[in-house]
Amino acid sequence: MKFFIDTANLDQIREAHEMGILDGVTTNPSLMAKEGIKGPNAVMKHYRDICEIVDGPVSAEVIGTSFKDIIEEGKKLAEIHENIVVKVPMIKDGIKAIKWFSDNDIPTNCTLVFSAGQAILAAKAGASFVSPFIGRIDDSNWDGVALIEQIVRIYNTQGFATEVLAASIRTPLHIVRCAEAGADVCTCPLSSITGLLKHPLTDLGLAQFLKDATGLQ
Ligand code: E4P
Repeated sequence: MKFFIDTANLDQIREAHEMGILDGVTTNPSLMAKEGIKGPNAVMKHYRDICEIVDGPVSAEVIGTSFKDIIEEGKKLAEIHENIVVKVPMIKDGIKAIKWFSDNDIPTNCTLVFSAGQAILAAKAGASFVSPFIGRIDDSNWDGVALIEQIVRIYNTQGFATEVLAASIRTPLHIVRCAEAGADVCTCPLSSITGLLKHPLTDLGLAQFLKDATGLQ
């Protein structure tokens, strides 16, 4: 399973990259706004900065919701860097745009996916990635990981090439369960990635080893 980081924060992207386990980045308009980025030039520069840190897919989301606007914006985003993946919402014009991008060799990430039916449509249109939001599903009393399992099963049965990108990750356990469910990619906040490191027995064991090692030096 590939690890993407779900942030527009350059320090956090660098930190995950320096761990040597980072395969890509996802952003969305809320994450970009959180970094205080304002105006089209600043947005373009920020995506360029991210692409200079990580050599892997970087999802950049369109704001437009009509076919024409999505295509226009997506083409500009794709020109920033060869690693840009155009992130498109799961709406009718979005599906139409994903098909157009796919026919024109521009990679896409279909976002805001909450059902297996939506995931089938994204794959039919030729999306490179589909992003089911498992944390938001859990928040509304449904089972996010069960949706990942269902989409993985459908894509395997049907031979769809679209990669299942588990998004809206809230905890390290979400990452483990998505790996178990067969997700191709998990996009996570830095806290969930570093949370995977933690186990009290590791801390206790290391403290003992370091104590015992004092006589060995
Ligand atoms: C990533 O592609 C999504 O935009 C993101 O994971 C959404 O996460 P949230 O539900 O924590 O906002």
